[in-house]
Amino acid sequence: MICRRSLRFPLVGLLIFLTSAFLQKSSADSAPQTPPTQLPERNALLMGADWYPEQWPEARWETDLQMMERAHLNVARIAEFAWSTMEPAEGYFQFDWLERAIRLAEKHHIAIVVGTPTAAPPAWLTQKYPDTLRVESNGQRATHGNRAHGSVTSIKYRELCHRIAEEMAKRFGRDPNVVGWQIDNEYGYGMMSYDSDTRQLFQQWLKAKYKTLDALNQHWTTTYWSQTYDVWEEIPIPVGENNPGLMLDWQRFTTYAWRSYQQNQIDAIRPHSEPRQFITGNFMGYGFDPIDHFVIAKPLTFVAWDDYIGTGHLDPDTNGISHDAMRGLKRENIWVIETQPGFVNWSPLNNSLDKGEVRAMAWHDVGHGADEVSYWQWRSALNGQEEIHGTLVGPDGKPEPLLSEVAQTAKEFSDLQGAFRDTRVVSDVALLQDYESRWAINWQKHTEKYDQFAILKSYYQALRRLSQSIDIVSPDDSLDQYKLVVAPDLCVIPKERAQHFEEYVKNGGHLVLGPRSGLKDEFNALLTTRQPGYLAEALGGQVEQYYALEKTVPASGSLGSGDVSVWAELLKVTSPDAEVLLHYEKSNGWLDDQPAIVTRKYGRGRITYIGAVLSDALVASAAQWMAKSSGVSAAFGPVPDGIEVSRRVGPRGAVYVLINFVKETQSVALPRPMQSLLDHREANQVELPQYGVAVLAGSKTN
Ligand code: GLA
Repeated sequence: MICRRSLRFPLVGLLIFLTSAFLQKSSADSAPQTPPTQLPERNALLMGADWYPEQWPEARWETDLQMMERAHLNVARIAEFAWSTMEPAEGYFQFDWLERAIRLAEKHHIAIVVGTPTAAPPAWLTQKYPDTLRVESNGQRATHGNRAHGSVTSIKYRELCHRIAEEMAKRFGRDPNVVGWQIDNEYGYGMMSYDSDTRQLFQQWLKAKYKTLDALNQHWTTTYWSQTYDVWEEIPIPVGENNPGLMLDWQRFTTYAWRSYQQNQIDAIRPHSEPRQFITGNFMGYGFDPIDHFVIAKPLTFVAWDDYIGTGHLDPDTNGISHDAMRGLKRENIWVIETQPGFVNWSPLNNSLDKGEVRAMAWHDVGHGADEVSYWQWRSALNGQEEIHGTLVGPDGKPEPLLSEVAQTAKEFSDLQGAFRDTRVVSDVALLQDYESRWAINWQKHTEKYDQFAILKSYYQALRRLSQSIDIVSPDDSLDQYKLVVAPDLCVIPKERAQHFEEYVKNGGHLVLGPRSGLKDEFNALLTTRQPGYLAEALGGQVEQYYALEKTVPASGSLGSGDVSVWAELLKVTSPDAEVLLHYEKSNGWLDDQPAIVTRKYGRGRITYIGAVLSDALVASAAQWMAKSSGVSAAFGPVPDGIEVSRRVGPRGAVYVLINFVKETQSVALPRPMQSLLDHREANQVELPQYGVAVLAGSKTN
């Protein structure tokens, strides 16, 4: 099996694979006035459902579309799993049914997003070309009957994906009712094929990157455990634990494999589609990290994501982090192209959202930059793995109880869309997220209690309460617009990234680094300078040693007193003008009385290093200090706890979305008289029951 494969990767295929992986251009480097998420001649805020006409008799379609229209829905995504209906036999395409569905939707003023069906290759395809099926890491080939079973690196699979996408684009790329395209579905959860073809591609990718094995061996320190590679063919795909350098490159290769898989379909669609048609992919939020979404998002028109709660209820911070991180991928508005109609089917407990919560969630989405919200799905297939997922219409074809709440919200979206036209989220505070640092820490956590999401969330919560608006962006983006930039645990800080940060600080920004920052370079190798590595000099301090904590450690200083837990770094001040804001109290002897937080003015700005996982109370006081010392203030003004405020800013001023997330009704005094847009009145104060929403405008933004 191994040797025969080389013939199946003609040089041309490999070059296309590698070139498209390396040479992608960003499509949105400057922000135009109208966000690409707001479509020409359509409402600025849209609401829709995912609809699968292929699962129903054609005679039913019009009833469904009439019901959607009556519910004020104006978008439907279709076809993303309909390969066997569109190409029932190899090379034989049937699009007439889809055309009829699109025309009927048009009649009911429902715009169509067409999904390419490549997350679900048909049975004839996998039967005829079994090598297009993914091989699991245990060596077993995936079988037919589920989805995401295609191999993203298979040249044959890519050829077949290209063909179906191209045929679809030839037919619908100029269709007036098709507003855009979604490539594949949730990018196969980032899964890779562990076959020998993929291994060869990985080796070729490494060769293109490192040029010589000497360089690779040196950066990966392969003398350790006799890992030295003498020929490229020796390099394995990591399964389980392996060399950290190799693991990081495998993750990068995974990202590039998915990106070039995506590009293969963009290249099939673009030449046949009008520029007004967008191309997006449906991402899965902050928590989904087998691929680097900054890289994947680059060639897309905008980012869309699938926003599900699963078990429990809407936590505005957890969900807000995902929105803000998805928005941060391209620093542009987003679509929520799937969201749960009450409940899902894949969670340990598939409880329903409460009455009013689905509406609150839709407005929370808008507050965080969404210009479209779509429910997955309109009506459930009568059989198939997701028979008992939440829907808007039941198996009997009649509305589910939730449909009236969705219809009310969709009407509100239509009525208020003008207020949101050309508006975006604008923040003074950024949190940094970096997939490579996340992977590096997760592979070597040192204490199983180290929870990167919990740490990010603690800063997010505290800083969002103070600023009421946060961006979550890449460390390598321009940071100039931010007064305060916080990197909760940025393990990987190569020289260039450090220089970029130094510039930001010199120009007046405040950079706050959390624990574990600046330990490693881009090869996942330890730096030979103490943390935070290349930034230690600017900080005027460094990490002497890190400790995984057995129990909490008291700490105190000008920030107040409290506890730190899980992780503590012993800091040393190396410059007379560096200040200690917090020190450890009695602990393991090593940490006793030693600095925990150091800050220093540098250039026109400031750099701060927090060496420990702080309790929520300490994070809150650190956040107060950060906001004050950086000139950050609330976008709206003070509100009671439990009220989430979001702000979008456009040429006509600011629009605020306020939502009450606590059980008690709360009244919010407005900082000035404002227009309350949902109830069409001038207001000085709003009363919000649980899940109550106010949309306020009428003032110029600060
Ligand atoms: C994902 C998928 C959908 C559907 C939903 C169910 O988001 O993209 O096809 O399976 O989950 O929650």
